[in-house]
Amino acid sequence: MPDQKNDNSIDVSDENIHWKQDISYGDYLDLDKLLAAQNLRSSSHDEMMFIIIHQATELWMKLCIHELSQAMKEIEEGNLGPAMKMIARIARIQEQMIQSWSILSTMTPKDYLGFRDSLGQSSGFQSYQYRIIEFSLGNKNAALIKAHQDHPNRYNAVKAALHAPSIYDLTLQLLAEHGFDIPRSCVDRDWSEPYCANQKVEDAWRIIYKDNEAHWQLYEWAEKLVDLEHRFQSWRFAHMKTVERIIGYRRGTGGTKGVEYLKKALDLKFFPELWSVRTNL
Ligand code: HEM
Repeated sequence: MPDQKNDNSIDVSDENIHWKQDISYGDYLDLDKLLAAQNLRSSSHDEMMFIIIHQATELWMKLCIHELSQAMKEIEEGNLGPAMKMIARIARIQEQMIQSWSILSTMTPKDYLGFRDSLGQSSGFQSYQYRIIEFSLGNKNAALIKAHQDHPNRYNAVKAALHAPSIYDLTLQLLAEHGFDIPRSCVDRDWSEPYCANQKVEDAWRIIYKDNEAHWQLYEWAEKLVDLEHRFQSWRFAHMKTVERIIGYRRGTGGTKGVEYLKKALDLKFFPELWSVRTNL
């Protein structure tokens, strides 16, 4: 066989490649800063993975907040279409966040104990972005902002989310604007208080679900919200089960009862009537 020249090789000749750039990839993404932010506090091999999973999750949470706050603005203006597009993106981000538990679960209890003491009292319980997401979805709990009292910027951001209407509060306002009989106490209230389920709200969702053809956009929006909550719960559940297999029933580094605390959160509901209406359709 004659020698065949392999012409699949990529062309990196000087006239084609920007060896010097106006903005480099690393500069645009601020990679020096990002990749220098893994400050291990022990000599344990697994600590690198532990830090990166947390950092990656915080980045995904940042994007969730970015999408969620815009979706909430769109809902306020009655633009359900763009809001749904943003929630669909959040759903994909949530998939990534859920998937990351499978990486974390390659760590055994012994691996974790190799660096646990170096975490001190730091815990995801103090994640201010997580709290902003929870408050924005409607799980209001004023006591929890105390965890951020020593960091004014974080404290103010969490407090602002606590006192703002949640995505569900805005949704109920939208239902009222569409002529549904939503009690005043649901659409004009102290937003920092937890939302209490209301029979008239369930009745409104029942009308929407029963006659979905007539209320297609609201029906579609309702299902987007259910999807959002479902995935949030899947993340919580996977967190709880991963924690159970890694630390058993020890207390958490944040001071709670650990798995017992995480299990309780599984009973929380962001959009209660969207769940109760399913039983009574
Ligand atoms: C070895 C891995 C992990 C263990 C053992 C663990 C353990 C715990 C425990 C016990 C709690 C309850 C609070 C406490 O007392 O500390 C907690 C809360 C939390 N963790 Fe983790 N966790 C792990 C990984 C992660 C990762 C990768 C994330 C991603 C950011 C995360 C985010 C959170 C959040 C947001 C909370 C607060 C939940 C709430 O208040 O409802 N955790 N974790």
